[in-house]
Amino acid sequence: MGLPNKVKIVEVGPRDGLQNEKETISADVKVELVDRLTDAGFVNIEAASFVSPKWVPQMATSAEVMARIRRKPGVIYSVLTPNMKGFEAALAAKADEVVIFGAASEAFSQKNINCSIAESIERFREVAEAAKQNKIRLRGSISCSFGCPYQGEVSPESVADVVRRLRELGCDEIDIADTIGVGTPKKVQAVMERAAQEFPIAQLSGHFHDTYGQALANIYASMEVGIATFHSSVAGLGGCPYAKGATGNVSTEDVLYMMNGLGVDTGIDLDKVVDAGQFISQHLGRKAVSRAGNAIAAKRAG
Ligand code: HMG
Ligand code: MG
Repeated sequence: MGLPNKVKIVEVGPRDGLQNEKETISADVKVELVDRLTDAGFVNIEAASFVSPKWVPQMATSAEVMARIRRKPGVIYSVLTPNMKGFEAALAAKADEVVIFGAASEAFSQKNINCSIAESIERFREVAEAAKQNKIRLRGSISCSFGCPYQGEVSPESVADVVRRLRELGCDEIDIADTIGVGTPKKVQAVMERAAQEFPIAQLSGHFHDTYGQALANIYASMEVGIATFHSSVAGLGGCPYAKGATGNVSTEDVLYMMNGLGVDTGIDLDKVVDAGQFISQHLGRKAVSRAGNAIAAKRAG
């Protein structure tokens, strides 16, 4: 199979990227980041997360962020909703898509959302029904699809099982996530191919953290088996608060640089993403975790 001509890049920096930051980031900065990303041409931005502020304090300003971002018609602004409380907040915030997030590993499910996989599906059922009633897009995310920080190995069968359950809940899209970045290309292809037996491949996405430096290779390998939606984070921001040592998502700048070189269309302006990456990195007081982003910025500075 050849590579796709076109891929969808879902920018998750404002949520996955910022959720783990220790210092409180003002809503002003978050809003500016989302607005810059909108301007760069993303069709889907994960902008916020309606989870317990006790669990993830950084996301406590999500309602304000959603209220103040400048929305471009046609762009999907997604938010995380682990339960009905989260869904109600998402509805009030006029989110275009809600994300229910489970795991392929029992241990991680307990640590991240404080319940078993089976219990999480029951919680998500209500959210899924409410999303359908309100005609809001529904996305499902599966953490630890390639390995778990607590239990180690995760089989493709356990991923397939959660894919099937999320399909039954009516998800429009399902994310196969490498929470701790341990996957390697052949394993990624095997899991993606198994997942695609349960759900249309055009609606599956790859969400790769870059902890072991494998994310770009894993994206390429996923494209070889037909995946055409990927998540990435501007400046490589991020990490999951419940996966110790997990670093950020693959950086959006690196992904766009690779796609541009491959002639795969993304519809996104890399220069504007580099600017957004430099903006948020300056705000956080550190260098962007993006090879391409920093190289382009350095070249400009001449
Ligand atoms: P719990 O303690 O079992 O829930 O947490 P609870 O229903 O007993 O509620 C406890 C308290 O939280 C109550 O407040 C609730 O009102 C409040 P209190 O009465 O004690 O004052 N609460 C909420 N507040 C605001 N919004 C809500 C909400 N729900 C309850 N939605 C719960 C269960 C799921 C809520 C908790 O475990 C939680 O919030 N977890 C979030 C974890 C999280 O956000 N993790 C990071 C995102 S996932 C991720 O990064 C992975 C991903 O990127 C893919 C990958 O890379 O793997 C997606
Ligand atoms: Mg993640």
